[in-house]
Amino acid sequence: MKEPYITTAIPYVNGKPHLGHAMDYLLADTLRRYMMYCGKKVRLQAGTDEHGNKIFKKAAEQGVDIQDFVDQNALKFQDFIHSLGVEYTDFIRTTDPDHERRCQAIWEKLSDHIYKDKYEGWYCEGCEGYVTDKEYEDNHGECPDHKKPYIKLSEENYYLRISDFKERIREAIETDELKITPVFRKKEFLNLLKDMPDVSISRPKEQVEWGIPVPGDDSQVMYVWIDALSNYITILGYPDKDISDYWPAHTQIVGKDILRFHAGIWPAMLLGLDLPLSHNLLAHGFVTVNGEKMSKSIGNVVDPVEILDKHGLTPFRYFFLRHASTTDDADFTWDKYEASYNELANDLGNLVQRLATLCKKNSISGQKVEKRENPDFDARMEKYEFNFAFDILWEGIAELNKRIDAEKPWALAKTDPEKAKEVLTKLVVDLLAINDRLAIFLPDTAKQIADVFTATEIQPPATPLFPKN
Ligand code: MSP
Repeated sequence: MKEPYITTAIPYVNGKPHLGHAMDYLLADTLRRYMMYCGKKVRLQAGTDEHGNKIFKKAAEQGVDIQDFVDQNALKFQDFIHSLGVEYTDFIRTTDPDHERRCQAIWEKLSDHIYKDKYEGWYCEGCEGYVTDKEYEDNHGECPDHKKPYIKLSEENYYLRISDFKERIREAIETDELKITPVFRKKEFLNLLKDMPDVSISRPKEQVEWGIPVPGDDSQVMYVWIDALSNYITILGYPDKDISDYWPAHTQIVGKDILRFHAGIWPAMLLGLDLPLSHNLLAHGFVTVNGEKMSKSIGNVVDPVEILDKHGLTPFRYFFLRHASTTDDADFTWDKYEASYNELANDLGNLVQRLATLCKKNSISGQKVEKRENPDFDARMEKYEFNFAFDILWEGIAELNKRIDAEKPWALAKTDPEKAKEVLTKLVVDLLAINDRLAIFLPDTAKQIADVFTATEIQPPATPLFPKN
């Protein structure tokens, strides 16, 4: 294994990015920065899922050529990822010719586990997926994510024989060989796995023409999920290249709604290809807005660009990484966002301004960054409890604020200047030690703070880091 490999779900490009999409990227970026902090080089994939009816219909509705449509939207996603301060090493588009060709090779390699059959069942166009009769009944005939009635589809399709791998998948999940976080989702999935039928992995071309052709059968195209899931390895070059330097992935990050594809179909594909299963599957919760589910299909989406424009990137990352749990749903409201911004300004912004001003007055020079151990922080990060790890850093920041208040270096400067210098220098060293890990969450701000407190002469920032509204 050369470099740990982290993957993100590849969003459908039937529209522009929405707030929910930010979660995958922020979590992946945080994990990547943490691993890099621990001295590792990391490969991080991102990309776009560009085939399927949903996208084809959207382009037709807008009267745009399908290729132009996906090209434009793929660019919007790349811009969006950059605007979140997220750095990926690889970007895959499922319409890349290399991906399409490799996907066909994957299909051929899976042929021992593929058969043709007629199928009739309930299908959600929003999910691009069938549901079991039980799910249909439990949800009263309507997809809870897309608020659309399931439709009955009857097709002659190719199937992947999930039953060939079910027991092996169950065992891998139960023993944490394929570790699903959080545990309640692992349990939920193991329940679902019991009734998981073989999956249909193709669609008749007359129904879906925007897809990768099934090798050797012109009448069928690949089911979009087979095409999409393959991205995680086609981007590494599979099957043309040996991917063992990167695969199995260290962590695959997905939203809770698509865990079942990643814990069921994907492991079946990997086993069919004789490839090892990923080590970790992290399923994050959903971002809701004012307590309501947000989805492209429902249309109640908040534009993340509007939030980014309000106070810039750091407050955005602060809110979604500290005040959103890594694994549960997180609610966004403008009130909560403003409160989070004020907290950032009061706790961190003021500390930097105050301490730098005192340092300047007392001619304290910049200090070196000390790497410090913090097993509690590491334990939280390793369990993917990023928001709790972030809390640990914030406790450190609160501590520094308390120390300034208690030790009153401005008063000491009058009575015991040497002691004042000692107190301030120690505060700077301690802040820099915290800031070193703050860079995992808030890279831009951490860089500004490091610049201030490692400079030959400490100067407060010309404008406060987080100006008051
Ligand atoms: N194209 C598939 C993924 C294929 S991966 C091989 C897909 N696309 S999506 O655009 O619907 O979702 C992309 C990611 O965004 C998924 O991880 C999904 O869970 C996540 N989210 C979509 N809406 C979300 C929220 N409201 N909140 C948090 N994450 C959400 O599924």
